[in-house]
Amino acid sequence: MVEIKYLGHSGFSIKHGDVKIVIDPFLTGNPLAKQKPEHIEADYVLISHAHGDHSSDGFSIAARCGATIISCYEIAVRAKQKGIKSHGLHIGGSYTFPFGKIKLTIAHHGSSFFDKTGNPVNLGTPCGFLIDLGETLIYHSGDTGLFLDMKLIGELNKIDIAMLPIGGNYTMDENDALKAVEFLKPKFVIPMHYNTFDLIKADPNDFKKSAASICEEVVILNVGDSKIF
Ligand code: NI
Ligand code: MN
Repeated sequence: MVEIKYLGHSGFSIKHGDVKIVIDPFLTGNPLAKQKPEHIEADYVLISHAHGDHSSDGFSIAARCGATIISCYEIAVRAKQKGIKSHGLHIGGSYTFPFGKIKLTIAHHGSSFFDKTGNPVNLGTPCGFLIDLGETLIYHSGDTGLFLDMKLIGELNKIDIAMLPIGGNYTMDENDALKAVEFLKPKFVIPMHYNTFDLIKADPNDFKKSAASICEEVVILNVGDSKIF
């Protein structure tokens, strides 16, 4: 049994037994967020890339909770430099944690942050996550465009829940996300990375209708909603 709460944007908190895993929390500066980062509890924080809408609150939540950041090597090193526990992996690599196994997948995107002078600083490569909790396998793609290797990810993994962006502009839009569902063959799909800003407007109900025949269910979670899978 896995309880998944949608924090908005690409952010989720997953409760599995006693373990709390948070992915890409974006609450500070998110007009749709229902919670403050101070109210999020985590044992592990997964960060898909360095962009502020995926990493900023992740660092502060991990620091406050004494949680371990799981991310690509460069972000993990940066976390350690800030005194935060971390475990770095890289694309295609996996590691079995006490709660389950995490594998890093490719994502076609950027992974920089901007220093005090406004210069972009690159922090490794963006990634997605395969999160194998034993009875439940979750795929969080991170920010990415559609890529053909999703077919391989779907072939090698029996995905129960796929979290996929549908907002376009910076990531896949609804149409490309439909193709991603075809490739990945997940049971459930949770759309993410839409409607936070005008640039990433999308109608998840349109997507749900179109994807009805290619997966068991598109689960639209409103910000703050939880569902048990
Ligand atoms: Ni991004
Ligand atoms: Mn983003």
